[in-house]
Amino acid sequence: MTTELNDLEAQLETLRQEAKNAIATSNTLEQLEQLRIGYFGKKGQMSQILGSMGKLAADRRPKIGAIANIIKEAIATELDNKRTSLQSAQIQAKLEAETIDVTMPGVYRPQGKIHPLNGVIDRALDIFVGLGYTVATGPEIESDYYNFEALNTPPDHPARDMQDTFYLPDAKLLRTHTSSVQIRYMENHEPPIRIVAPGRVYRRDTVDATHAAVFHQIELLAVDEGLTFTDLKGTIKEFLRQMFGQDLPIRFRASYFPFTEPSAEVDLQWQGRWLEVLGCGVVDPNVLKAVGYDPEKYTGFAAGFGVERFAQVLHKIDDIRRVYTSDLRFLRQF
Ligand code: DAH
Repeated sequence: MTTELNDLEAQLETLRQEAKNAIATSNTLEQLEQLRIGYFGKKGQMSQILGSMGKLAADRRPKIGAIANIIKEAIATELDNKRTSLQSAQIQAKLEAETIDVTMPGVYRPQGKIHPLNGVIDRALDIFVGLGYTVATGPEIESDYYNFEALNTPPDHPARDMQDTFYLPDAKLLRTHTSSVQIRYMENHEPPIRIVAPGRVYRRDTVDATHAAVFHQIELLAVDEGLTFTDLKGTIKEFLRQMFGQDLPIRFRASYFPFTEPSAEVDLQWQGRWLEVLGCGVVDPNVLKAVGYDPEKYTGFAAGFGVERFAQVLHKIDDIRRVYTSDLRFLRQF
């Protein structure tokens, strides 16, 4: 009996020692959990030892039971302490891994910018969309009909001299203005019409500080019953007010375009100087007839302006050629 008792006591003592070492050297929470199962699980060592207590004489059981409890407590405490320290080590490691050193030099990411020409186009379109206009576009390679003839400019018309044209071999041409979009749009739509048409245009001009062979225009067209020159004036005035951010003095100067009657050019007083900013007028009845509209029923107004011109004025760009180079020192300013 005493031997058995001593035997169990020794087993428990050994278990305590082994557990102490094993727990101390375990270094993950998973390992620790495996140890716990090994000691306290259903088939664990502790259960086995306690199971064999049944063989002891009844009067011995309390003593060995007491010892077993103390050892059980001791191992459980070791397990708890180790779990706590492994958990906090895990949190600590995570915190260290996720630390951001704000003193490290940053990674340089070059940021793109809107090109000054696109900036002007975006702004102008925004304003007209706000006034109820729809954006329309047309082809850059055009026929004589859409670029000139339907716009009341027959082949022998002297106004063709106003726009030196690049002609292509197959009787086509590079459009000299966005006014061609007026015809294309009206051919496919019925009034009321309110469109704004941005696009690239081409002229056989000698390139200098204010002229380019390829440049951009924005076209405006409204056709409806009862539209008058007053509607045109109001629209242009509001557009310029929003574009320049203030109510600047403007004047409508009589001019001539084959596709409008009457025609006008608009000047704007900007930083003490009068600048010509756009051409406009009441749509000529011949243009309405060309697309099959009844000029007795409908009237309209139109306008066209150069995007480069606006960019030059708004951004004080001295030479138009700068906006076509890819010089980042220039482009970064906008
Ligand atoms: N197409 C003209 C040009 O390129 C500009 C223009 C003037 C457009 C009067 C219009 C307009 O729509 O009514 O010079």
